[in-house]
Amino acid sequence: MTSAQVARVLALADRAAAADGVDPLNEEARLSLYRSTARHLLVGQRGHLHGYLNHHPTFATAQLVIDPEHRRAGLGSRLWHQLPVPAGTWAFGDTPASRGFAAAMGMHASRRLKMYVRPLTEVPTPQLPDGLTLRTYTPADAAELLAVNAAAFAEHPEQGQLDATGLADRMAEGWFDPDGLLLGYDADGLAGFHWTKTVDGVGEVYVIAVAPRAQGRGYGKALLDAGMSHLAAKGLPTVSLFVDAADQIAVKMYERAGFGLAREDVYYAPGDEEH
Ligand SMILES: CC(C)(COP(=O)(O)OP(=O)(O)OC[C@H]1O[C@@H](n2cnc3c(N)ncnc32)[C@H](O)[C@@H]1OP(=O)(O)O)[C@@H](O)C(=O)NCCC(=O)NCCS
Repeated sequence: MTSAQVARVLALADRAAAADGVDPLNEEARLSLYRSTARHLLVGQRGHLHGYLNHHPTFATAQLVIDPEHRRAGLGSRLWHQLPVPAGTWAFGDTPASRGFAAAMGMHASRRLKMYVRPLTEVPTPQLPDGLTLRTYTPADAAELLAVNAAAFAEHPEQGQLDATGLADRMAEGWFDPDGLLLGYDADGLAGFHWTKTVDGVGEVYVIAVAPRAQGRGYGKALLDAGMSHLAAKGLPTVSLFVDAADQIAVKMYERAGFGLAREDVYYAPGDEEH
């Protein structure tokens, strides 16, 4: 991709986001514009970009956007049929157009990611269950944190695979703040953690995990409230998070804590639903 092409793709994504109310490309797709991790398909006329498809061969996923002025003209299908191998696609916000398009391309909804938001007002004072103490992260805690993360997310395709390199990469990012990573200990060691993130003035529940041995004791709620108090004390107006819709325990915890559903993203997989 030349820098002019990258600029056209970003402008196209902005036009679509303004029309649809949701960004058609996620952070990973945007970062891949500058790397060779993705394949890029562009369609346009006389220097005007009308459509863009980002294909990530390793994950077998694609993200697709057509200019709002050029939809229902077959451009989306044309780009989609250029894919050399079957891929799934993320539909951010799951708009009627993405639903119709996914059905027309013979795909089915296979995973749903809910985005929740909560104002950082009336944040409850954390009530720590007996035996639980909290402190902030130090570099010596990395191995223990990774072990709790792997155990808590054993069923999760991406988060459960976080390793020492992945952790170090994230902690090297400009947003990383050890004071925003709270560790919860009980008599048996590290029981859970809440990793908060702040980007562009918005707070996020980045990762919250409780070791399976310690689940069901109110640790998750205590960690959630403590992290929200930390973000509120920084003066941030809101906190958001993403959670897999299938994770009903976490969904219930966030809804009880006053989070409201802001958006649902759907992953469409190729083919018919398996029964
Ligand atoms: C979804 C999107 C890529 C479709 O692009 P497009 O070029 O308009 O799609 P096509 O013209 O090739 O349409 C192919 C078929 O998809 C279905 N479809 C497309 N838009 C639709 C809509 N608004 N409502 C219902 N069905 C729709 C139809 O079956 C259509 O065939 P038809 O026009 O003969 O009825 C486009 O609306 C877009 O960029 N949306 C924002 C980004 C996004 O949602 N990406 C995720 C894609 S799953």
